[in-house]
Amino acid sequence: MLTRIAVLVSGGGTNLQAIIDAQKSGIIKNGEIVAVISNNSGAYALERAKKAGIDTYTVLKKDCASQAEFEGKLVDILEKCGVQLIVLAGFMSILSENFTSKYDKRIINVHPSLIPSFCGKGYYGLKVHEAALEYGVKVTGATVHFVNEIPDGGEIILQKSVAIKKGDTPEILQKRVMEQAEWKILPRAVELVSAGIRKEK
Ligand code: GAR
Repeated sequence: MLTRIAVLVSGGGTNLQAIIDAQKSGIIKNGEIVAVISNNSGAYALERAKKAGIDTYTVLKKDCASQAEFEGKLVDILEKCGVQLIVLAGFMSILSENFTSKYDKRIINVHPSLIPSFCGKGYYGLKVHEAALEYGVKVTGATVHFVNEIPDGGEIILQKSVAIKKGDTPEILQKRVMEQAEWKILPRAVELVSAGIRKEK
């Protein structure tokens, strides 16, 4: 049986698209996306999932009295779908230790910098690229890592560097990091971890 994957999203879903495409092209051959879960009902990622024929779910924080209730709803969906690997692809909500410890080495995340630079609480999306440009680094990139209780602190799986160019804006840099790094290493990491999970069985 292929490793059953859920992708958690909040926004545009270009990383989700990269995983969908990689599954189609055979780069991902040991796993299959069985659910896409969003914490934002307006996320374009949900449209991408529907177009690919993948079941979608929305869980809103505002409908939950606590983080525990929010995470409980996520767990219900994950268990119902028999999910073995959780991929955070632009999921802009920090998960508690209660959740991450339940899925040790079963959650991976893509982050748009070379961890340990420009990561942790408050560093997400465009803010990461703003910080990199402000600092003046000449090289940035992306990281895929396992998720534990420390934001962006879990074991690194893959990284890829990207050059910063004169005249870069946060938006230009974000696009280059996605194209040259995130959309390449996230599908590769999904395949690596999916294959590992299959071997364990
Ligand atoms: C991506 O750049 C991803 O690395 C980043 O948000 C963007 C989502 O884009 N994630 C984080 O900053 C998490 N800390 P997408 O919705 O088009 O995949």
